[in-house]
Formats: sequence, structure tokens, C-alpha cells
Amino acid sequence: MSGHVVITGASSGIGYSLARRLAKRGWRVSAIARRYEKLTELQQHEGSIVPLTADVSVPKQIKSALLKAENASGCIDMAILNAGIYTPVDVKRFSGKTFVKQMQVNYFGIIHCLDHLLPAMLARGSGHLALMGSVAGYRGLPKSAAYGPTKAAIQNLAESMYFDLNPKGIKLQVINPGFVETEATSVNDFVMPDLISSDVAADHVIQGLQEDIFEISFPKSFVRKLKFMRLLPSHVYLSLTAKLTGYK
Ligand SMILES: NC(=O)c1ccc[n+]([C@@H]2O[C@H](COP(=O)([O-])OP(=O)(O)OC[C@H]3O[C@@H](n4cnc5c(N)ncnc54)[C@H](OP(=O)(O)O)[C@@H]3O)[C@@H](O)[C@H]2O)c1
Repeated sequence: MSGHVVITGASSGIGYSLARRLAKRGWRVSAIARRYEKLTELQQHEGSIVPLTADVSVPKQIKSALLKAENASGCIDMAILNAGIYTPVDVKRFSGKTFVKQMQVNYFGIIHCLDHLLPAMLARGSGHLALMGSVAGYRGLPKSAAYGPTKAAIQNLAESMYFDLNPKGIKLQVINPGFVETEATSVNDFVMPDLISSDVAADHVIQGLQEDIFEISFPKSFVRKLKFMRLLPSHVYLSLTAKLTGYK
């Protein structure tokens, strides 16, 4: 498995680890994010990586970055649409802006990329798309009222697109990690169960990308528990989750 891969959100965390590892494996990596200095640091580790700045929530910027990626490294074989933000919220102090911002980056950021990527992949009848979701999209969680729905939307988007894209030769996957130690989760003031490093997360993602599976989820023991919780009726799920997380 190699070719040209675009990774959004490659300046830190899971995207950064993925960019380094895939470049080492011989992929031509186009690394997209807003912070140029972080992307050049990435390039210092792996000289072949092409750094491109863009805000995924701004259609013009992401289109221009993807065009530059194609000019520099050829047609895009795989796109890992990973850019995302996470702001925990307490809805007793509701601010709609936080909700809109997270949807703009996490969900519409993916849509803006697809606007450019899909026509070319469909015309070729090949390509590989991996959308970054989260286990936080499975069900509602405390503090996750702004973030969780963005990931639930991505899960639904991926499943819905699958029906059109699979018969056209485009491989579509959704990535649902548990807790990963990154800049995003550094704001959490609670003990994160089954926490893994971004390098370990990237290894799980790379393994999953090579497999014939729709959902890449990890770590397995944590995911198993959450998938069981997903089956519970709402009243049982809500009281159990409140108890387990200390929300009475
Ligand atoms: N960490 C976890 O526990 C966890 C669990 C499940 C899913 N995820 C998901 O994994 C993805 C990566 O997160 P992470 O944990 O690795 O956090 P991170 O270290 O904060 O990385 C987020 C990346 O997204 C980029 N980004 C943010 N806003 C952007 C924008 N508007 N335009 C372009 N790039 C943007 C950031 O770069 P710039 O700031 O330079 O733009 C950065 O490279 C996210 O989608 C997150 O929701 C994380």
C-alpha cells in the first residue's frame, strides 16, 4: 500500500503521527493544517512530506491546498480527513457559537474536502477515504454536547455515502478512536480510561486502513464496553453513564 495520501490536521496529535509513519512507509504525504511552523517541523523529520496550510472550514482554502497537493504529488490515492477540534461544554452555560464552530470544523471540514476529492475519485473509479469520527459519536456523553454530535454526524455520513461509493470502487472507512493523549484531550480534567499515545493510535489506524473493514475502532477493550452501552435502552444508558462518570 503506497501512493499519494492527504492528511488533514497533520500538525499535531494523531494526524502528525500518521504523517510521519506513512511517509516512512513510502507514501507521498501532503500534510494540511493551519499552523505552518508545526508542519515544517514535521517536514524536518520526514523530508518528503509536503506541508500545506489551510483551514478546513474555509472552502476556498481547502480547495487551493488540495490543488497544490495534486500539483506537487499527483492524484490523491487516499485522504485521511482527520482535522478536528474538541471543546467540552457545560450546557448550563450554553453558547451556540461553540456548537457551530465544532460542526464547521469537524463535519463541514470533511464536506469541503469531499467537494474537491470525490469528483476525481469517481471519475477514476478508485480512491480511499478515511473519515475521523470518535467513539464519542456512539451515544451522548457528559460535556460532549457540542463535540459528540459532530462525530455522530460523521458516522452517519460515512454509512450513508458507502452505498454510493462502494459500488464505484472507492474504499470508505470511518475511524473511531477512544481516548488518545493529544493537544485536544489535554483540556480534560478527568481520568481518561484506556488512554493511548498518538503513535499507538496511528499504528491502529494504519493497520485498519489495510484491512477490508468499514470501521477502524480502538482500543478494542474500551470500544467493546461502549458498543455494549450502545445497545442499552436510553433510561438504563443515561443512569449508568451518570453513575460511571460521577454525574449524579
Ligand atoms: N484525542 C482523542 O482522544 C480523539 C479521540 C477520538 C477522535 N479524535 C479525533 O482525532 C482528530 C485529531 O485530533 P487529535 O486528538 O490528534 O487532536 P490535536 O492534536 O489537537 O490535532 C488536531 C489537528 O486538527 C487541526 N485542525 C484543527 N482545526 C483545524 C482547521 N480549522 N483547519 C485545519 N486543521 C485544523 C490541528 O492543526 P492546526 O491547529 O495547526 O490547524 C491539528 O493538526 C480529531 O478529529 C479528533 O476529533 C481524537
